[in-house]
Amino acid sequence: MTVLSDILKFFQNRNFVFLSPHEKTNSIHEYNQLYENTIYDFIENDAIRKQAYRKVIFNKVKDKIAVEIGTGKSLFLPKICVEAGVQKIYTTEENEKSFAQSKKLLKELKLEKKIKIYQGLSLDVEIEERCDILVHEIVGAIGSWEGMVLAVNDAKRRFLKSDAQFIPYQCITKIAPVSPLKLSPEKQIVNLFLNLILKNVINRGNDWNFSKPGTYVTYNFPVHNLIAEPQEFENIVFAEDLVMIDEKNLEFFIQKPSLFDGFIFYINLWVDPETVIDSLGQKTNWRVIYIKLFEKPLKLKAGDLIKVKIERDVSTAQPKYEIDATVCQNESARVYKKQIII
Ligand SMILES: C[S@@+](CC[C@H](N)C(=O)[O-])C[C@H]1O[C@@H](n2cnc3c(N)ncnc32)[C@H](O)[C@@H]1O
Repeated sequence: MTVLSDILKFFQNRNFVFLSPHEKTNSIHEYNQLYENTIYDFIENDAIRKQAYRKVIFNKVKDKIAVEIGTGKSLFLPKICVEAGVQKIYTTEENEKSFAQSKKLLKELKLEKKIKIYQGLSLDVEIEERCDILVHEIVGAIGSWEGMVLAVNDAKRRFLKSDAQFIPYQCITKIAPVSPLKLSPEKQIVNLFLNLILKNVINRGNDWNFSKPGTYVTYNFPVHNLIAEPQEFENIVFAEDLVMIDEKNLEFFIQKPSLFDGFIFYINLWVDPETVIDSLGQKTNWRVIYIKLFEKPLKLKAGDLIKVKIERDVSTAQPKYEIDATVCQNESARVYKKQIII
């Protein structure tokens, strides 16, 4: 376990509101290169995720032929599958360093007969037989943000039997309008300090003026900052047809006087239909994405309406979401536009 991952966990467990600027990468390939030991350790140290995946894997994979996408540095999910009695599991990893670590571990564990690992993006890999079940955790803070829809669609076409099962089963990303985050000066200093030590590891941001509009990643985002009921931004049921380009319109009704500052995005990951992980309500490794729209928040009254138009394109290696927010107050309406790219 790396010290940095322990530091992050320490602050997360103490309800510290962590805030960090998000800096976009050019594609999922570039994003996959950012994975390194601190991030993997923080992910593997997520007890909620581990417990949920273990439970579902133990219920589903016995005697099955499975395929995983994105195994990381330590064969985390394939090892659980082997414990649970999988007949064989194929896996892929794009990140060369992580692939090498997993390959070495596979040898040490003498599991070559049970687990076969390929290096490369799953889209470029061929495996030698059709599988009964897909297991993966390439789920982004916005579900499809890390190329999950593209990869799962491709796996359906080339790796899976027609009646294959999916772990996870469903991923819903929710969006909600929020009031501004108020961080005390002490908390801002701790955040600056954390951002400094994590600068080259967890994220690449270095513009730490937290009052500036922009896209931020957060842990422990306060639920009381939500100013309307969250709604579905995207809803992906893996066994169903996965839509890659779409648009939708949402309306958020404001029920009491509120300050409107932007939106958050978080996931409900259904590992099976009974087992959900909630990245807003639970302390998991998934970050809550916070889009701050205004330097000074808008004052809204009861009866005001925020209309949101979402255009989503996850058909390429650079997922894109265009979000237009229209704030309707009395007779007036103003449009605010924001595009987020991985
Ligand atoms: C969130 S980590 C999960 C690692 C591990 N499976 C676990 O559950 O702890 C995602 C990993 O998948 C890899 N990855 C993402 N998309 C991939 C794809 N389409 N093909 C191969 N590797 C991918 C990334 O490089 C990263 O190592």
